[in-house]
Amino acid sequence: MQDIIQRLADKRDAAQLGGGQRRIDAQHAKGKLTARERIDLLLDDGSFEEWDQFVEHRCTDFGMAEQKIPGDGVVTGYGTINGRLVFVFSQDFTVFGGSLSESHAEKICKIMDQAMKVGAPVIGLNDSGGARIQEGVASLGGYADVFQKNVLASGVVPQISVIMGPCAGGAVYSPAMTDFIFMVQDTSYMFVTGPDVVKTVTHEVVTAEELGGATTHTTKSGVADLALENDVEALLMTRRFFNFLPANNRQKAPVWPTEDPGSRLEPSLDTLVPDDPARPYDIREVILKVADEGDFFEIQPGYAQNIVVGFIRIEGHVVGVIANQPMVLAGCLDIDSAKKGGRFVRFCDAFNIPILTLVDVPGFMPGTSQEYGGIIKHGAKLLYAYAEATVPKVTLITRKAYGGAYDVMASKHLRGDVNLAWPSAEIAVMGPKGAVEIIFRKDLGDEDKIAARTEEYRQKFANPFIAGSRGYIDDVIMPRDTRVRVSRSFAMLRDKKLENPWRKHGNIPL
Ligand code: HXC
Repeated sequence: MQDIIQRLADKRDAAQLGGGQRRIDAQHAKGKLTARERIDLLLDDGSFEEWDQFVEHRCTDFGMAEQKIPGDGVVTGYGTINGRLVFVFSQDFTVFGGSLSESHAEKICKIMDQAMKVGAPVIGLNDSGGARIQEGVASLGGYADVFQKNVLASGVVPQISVIMGPCAGGAVYSPAMTDFIFMVQDTSYMFVTGPDVVKTVTHEVVTAEELGGATTHTTKSGVADLALENDVEALLMTRRFFNFLPANNRQKAPVWPTEDPGSRLEPSLDTLVPDDPARPYDIREVILKVADEGDFFEIQPGYAQNIVVGFIRIEGHVVGVIANQPMVLAGCLDIDSAKKGGRFVRFCDAFNIPILTLVDVPGFMPGTSQEYGGIIKHGAKLLYAYAEATVPKVTLITRKAYGGAYDVMASKHLRGDVNLAWPSAEIAVMGPKGAVEIIFRKDLGDEDKIAARTEEYRQKFANPFIAGSRGYIDDVIMPRDTRVRVSRSFAMLRDKKLENPWRKHGNIPL
């Protein structure tokens, strides 16, 4: 008995050491934590239950039979974050560069299966040199097995990827199929082909950081959702983010106690919208004033900034916010903002998170780059997502709601449950100037006539009352009452039930 206990202790020690002290030191020297240190920071103290610590690879080629490290480059198991169950895998770069073997993939698939069975989120901490080169095709098969699990888990349990080192080649497609990707600045990168291949094929000279670092993916490509300064910040932010998520698609997000009353008035909102319709203001002001304790967790803050998305709580209940941002491109919808908004709406709808939409949108962005880029198809993503969503939808038009963009932004016609407007709202086919230039084209030389016609159009349409007279707007509210009215609306909608017709799946314009 004593022998076997000693053997167990030795094996545990070997697993704890991963690829050995020299490689752990090298990991630290790069400013990175080890796989186990990361799990310790991510989960509640002492909550981690490890599985498969003794799993080893089965490769015998290239001298691999003599190089076996218990755990095989990935630490897997489950634990809690603020007392809520979560499954985790953390790739260990000190073991064969965190590369994915057949066994390594099996460990990841095992916790994903279990997470789906019990209905708990999965967080993947990625730090890997990709497919285990010594294993060849077995490793590729392992990747495909993980991809398949990612797809089956999508919309069933939330999946978060934190990229904390290399993630290259086909390996990027596992994080790509999860719900959110967070990246660590300067030590992580994601690309399908690295700088050397890029140089050979396209003759572009680019560093790994420029090609696929955190800044690139959170500002240019939109692949990642947040860039965090270092491992510690990334893990602490993931903990905070986790609090906004439900455990699975059958549950609601946890309700947080708050001292902030739903009845709070915000007189400062009465003067937020400038008199001049061409002048911008920051839509985040509205979000912060509506949210419990001004707490807003913004997603993709550096990408497609003409739309703002993220999570708040209202009377303790999580709400997803989508808002046009007049400060950037006047709040126009373009390809990137439609994709960003559409994906966020779909996440909220998949996981029972009610949606608050703040509208100040002059329309879709004109231009050849948008048309050639497929704004028709990409814009339709946001429209489709809103129309498909069955969660409670509350919409507030603060100023412009013009043209097709009015329809798209959770209008009454797309099953908006409560549609409110501020007195400053302008709901029309287009702005007064553009409208008059088309319908009174023959008067274009006559400035007085055009000015009079523009004023006439403004009086008639640049207000919320025509839409109100048709019931497209349920009420025109004072800006100071926004939090009160929005919280009451969501409270009324708490037990909303709405189902779409049965189908295998819709055909969203991808
Ligand atoms: C086996 C690997 C490995 C891999 C790294 N190592 N990648 N072992 N398979 N894919 C080992 C190294 O041999 C080394 O072992 C240790 O990990 C650390 O690697 P270093 O090169 O010393 O580290 P660093 O300088 O930080 O460079 C990291 C790296 C580099 C950029 C990731 O190792 C690298 O380029 N690796 C190969 C990447 C790659 O081509 N992967 C396959 C891609 S194809 P020792 O014993 O010296 O510590 C792919 C397809 C997936 O992934 C398809 C899915 C559909």
